[in-house]
Amino acid sequence: MLVLIDNANLYEIEELYNSYPYDGVTTNPTILRNEHQDPLKLLKSIRELLPSDSQLHAQVISDTTEGIIEEAHFMLDAISPDLFIKIPVSAEGLRAIHKLKQEGVNITATAIYTAMQAFMAGKAGARYAAPYVNRLDNMGADGVQVATDIHNMFRVHNMESDVLAASFKNSQQILELCKNGVGAVTAAPDVLRQLIKHDATFTAEENFEKDYYSLIEEVKGIHLKRDDK
Ligand code: E4P
Repeated sequence: MLVLIDNANLYEIEELYNSYPYDGVTTNPTILRNEHQDPLKLLKSIRELLPSDSQLHAQVISDTTEGIIEEAHFMLDAISPDLFIKIPVSAEGLRAIHKLKQEGVNITATAIYTAMQAFMAGKAGARYAAPYVNRLDNMGADGVQVATDIHNMFRVHNMESDVLAASFKNSQQILELCKNGVGAVTAAPDVLRQLIKHDATFTAEENFEKDYYSLIEEVKGIHLKRDDK
């Protein structure tokens, strides 16, 4: 399962990449607004910061097929030809996905709230479909179930699309999707940090360290680490 960072802050992205090799970055207009700077320049800087095999996803604003296609071409030219273009699922969006797919463009269908929207996006040629897990949960639906249904539909129909589940509030939602085999998730830095955090691990590490130093204090002249005297 690919794990991406849903954020556009260069420091956060760098910090996260320093601790673990992530698979890329996803953005949307709200995430870009939070950085209060030229979005195009920022997206270019993110692309330069990321390793070449990491994905970058950026979203179009237009809501007509022609507008979406023009904007996608502009973004691909200005940022990178391997950019994943995020397109919200609508009738106009699906037409744009179909046409851009024929040009070989990587597309992530986004703002997905139902499994059928994702299925139609996959049929149109989207590489990824992004259901909004936590927003679905907040509506009284089951976000993990919707994302899992989409994953299963893609596999049953032998489609070349994967789920890129988005909108998470906690690591449990990601764990469930990992168990269910979805292809990718994208989450905010605070949620990503929770994926490996456990107080019991920290306590265990502290206790092992204490026991080790008590042993080398007790039996003089022994050491495991080169710099222990
Ligand atoms: C990503 O594609 C979505 O735009 C984003 O994850 C939505 O997350 P939110 O519900 O936390 O805003």
